Amino acid sequence: MTTNKILERFQIYLNQALPEPLSEKTPSPLISAMRYSLLNGGKRLRALLVYATGMALNADLNLCDIAATAVEMIHCFSLIHDDLPAMDNDVLRRGLPTCHIKFNEGLAILAGDALHTEAFDLLSHKIPNPQTAVSMIQVLSRAIGKSGMVQGQSIDLESENKTLSLDLLKQMHFLKTGCLIEASIQMGYLASEIINPTIQIALKKYGESIGLAFQIKDDLLDACSSSEKLGKTAGIDLINHKSTFVSLLGFSQASEIMETLIQEAHEALSPYPELKNSHLSFLADYVIGREY
Ligand code: IPE
Ligand code: IPE
Ligand code: MG
Ligand code: MG
Ligand code: MG
Repeated sequence: MTTNKILERFQIYLNQALPEPLSEKTPSPLISAMRYSLLNGGKRLRALLVYATGMALNADLNLCDIAATAVEMIHCFSLIHDDLPAMDNDVLRRGLPTCHIKFNEGLAILAGDALHTEAFDLLSHKIPNPQTAVSMIQVLSRAIGKSGMVQGQSIDLESENKTLSLDLLKQMHFLKTGCLIEASIQMGYLASEIINPTIQIALKKYGESIGLAFQIKDDLLDACSSSEKLGKTAGIDLINHKSTFVSLLGFSQASEIMETLIQEAHEALSPYPELKNSHLSFLADYVIGREY
C-alpha cells in the first residue's frame, strides 16, 4: 500500500473515531476543539510509523488503525498544550490559529486533556485481544508521562535561558519527542501480535535514532525556514530562549549529528529484510529530508 493510500485510510478512521456530537441542538465546544486540533492536517508521521511497522510484520490493519489513532490523539494533545501561553506561547499551528487562539485557553487545556484520555479509552475498548490492549496501553503511557514526553517538556521549560550540556540536550529531545516516536513503532510491533525480541530490539534502536533526529530537524527548521512553509511560527525558539541543537552547536554540527542518527537507524534495520525493505527505510530519510 502506498503512503498516500495509508494516509487516506487513516483520515477516514480518525474522522469516525471522534464524531461530531449527534444532535446539532447540543453543540459541544469541547468536541469542536478536539476535532479542530486532531483533524486539521499534520504530517501524521507517528501514525505512518505504526502502519509501516505493522505492515512490515503482517499486522492486521484494523489494529494499526486503532493504535495509530491513539498515538495521533496523544500527539495532538501534546501540541495543544505545547502552544499554550504558559508553554511556548504560539499562535500558529498547521497553518491555522492554535487551539487556544481559535477557542480559548481553558477550552484548549481541556481539549488536550480529553484527547489524552480518549486515546486510552480507544485502546482499552477497541483492541480485541486483552493482552495486546494492555501492552499497548503500557507502552504508550510509559512513553508520555514522567519518564517520557511530559518529563521532556518539563526539562524544556526549565532550560529556557540556559546552556545545557550536549548530553542533557539529547536527553531532553529524546524524552519530549523521541519517546512518542519510539512508542509509535512499538505499537506497530504489538499490532502484529508476533513475539520476536531481536526484531523488537532493532525497532527500538531505529525508533531512538529517528526520534532524536526528528527533533533536531525541528530545531533546524525553526531556525532556517519560514512560518509560511512550516505552518507554525518560525524562529520561536530564539524568541523563547530555548535550548536547541542549533543554539548549542550551530547549523552544521547539528546537521551532522542528525545525519549520523539516520545512518544508525538504517543500520538497525539492515539485518532484517522485512524491516529494511519496508516503509520504515523511507520514513527514516523523510524525517530529515522534510521541509516542514
Ligand atoms: C511537531 O511535530 C512537534 C514536535 C514533536 C517537534 P510534527 O512536526 O510531527 O507536527 P505535525 O503533526 O506534522 O503537525
Ligand atoms: C515540542 O517541541 C515537543 C512536544 C512534545 C509537543 P517544540 O516545541 O519544538 O514543537 P513545535 O516546534 O512547537 O512543533
Ligand atoms: Mg515546546
Ligand atoms: Mg513548541
Ligand atoms: Mg520546535
